[in-house]
Amino acid sequence: MSSREDASTGRHAAHAESFTHNADAYAAVRPGYPPAAVDLLVPSDAHDVLDLAAGTGKLTEPLVARGLRVVAVEPAEGMREQLVARLPQVEVLDGTAERIPLPDASVDAVTVAQAWHWFDEPVAAAEVARVLRPGGTLGIVWNDRDEDVPWVGAYGALLHEVAGPQLARGTHPTLGDAFTDVLRTDVRWEHVLTPEELVRLAGTRSYALVLPADEREALLERVRTLVTTHPDIAGRDRVPVPYVTRVYSARRR
Ligand SMILES: C[S@@+](CC[C@H](N)C(=O)[O-])C[C@H]1O[C@@H](n2cnc3c(N)ncnc32)[C@H](O)[C@@H]1O
Repeated sequence: MSSREDASTGRHAAHAESFTHNADAYAAVRPGYPPAAVDLLVPSDAHDVLDLAAGTGKLTEPLVARGLRVVAVEPAEGMREQLVARLPQVEVLDGTAERIPLPDASVDAVTVAQAWHWFDEPVAAAEVARVLRPGGTLGIVWNDRDEDVPWVGAYGALLHEVAGPQLARGTHPTLGDAFTDVLRTDVRWEHVLTPEELVRLAGTRSYALVLPADEREALLERVRTLVTTHPDIAGRDRVPVPYVTRVYSARRR
């Protein structure tokens, strides 16, 4: 099933809603974005930036740190609460990619981190084009674990068993005629976690969150066994998790 077909189902809504109930764990263990990726997401001459589907603010934070004027839009209340607590100086609005609560031509750049696959793509692309000033940019990013590394592949395989095909992995944005100069760049880096944080990380995936409690616990126990026994990482206090961060940038015509 493609992410777009999935977007029209109740399952999709349940997944999106699931983020609200796990915002604490999400903020604690999900990876952020390396500076090289942030450089690619927002041009150096941008001032006003919309961070769309901002979640708990993992990308919003480095944008603010760069001195940008950032508005964050996020539909899940639990995520917004975390974001406001973390970055009180940021304007945080309730809204969706399909209905962005901003005027036409009001921002220089829009960023979307780890969320484009949740959107109704043609509707979201048109909305992003509407709020961007002409020549403004859209930056879309996904953090993919590098599953070519054997223990990471085994960790991913456990999650894929419950997730079915990964929703985000391999998703390429199709932006339509309003955008040009679409460019993809991969950034490799590592996020260091403790073994128990690796278990919690599995629990923040939307497909794990929507499992019945006993199945979710069983999954996390299998993940715990893997991270404590896999010969490449067993016995370590800190485990570097390799990521390939995919950055797409495009310019509004
Ligand atoms: C995986 S989280 C990413 C959050 C944040 N950008 C980050 O990098 O940590 C996906 C976010 O997309 C939001 N989301 C889901 N569907 C959305 C939609 N249609 N419009 C806007 N945001 C949406 C969820 O509420 C969630 O906060």
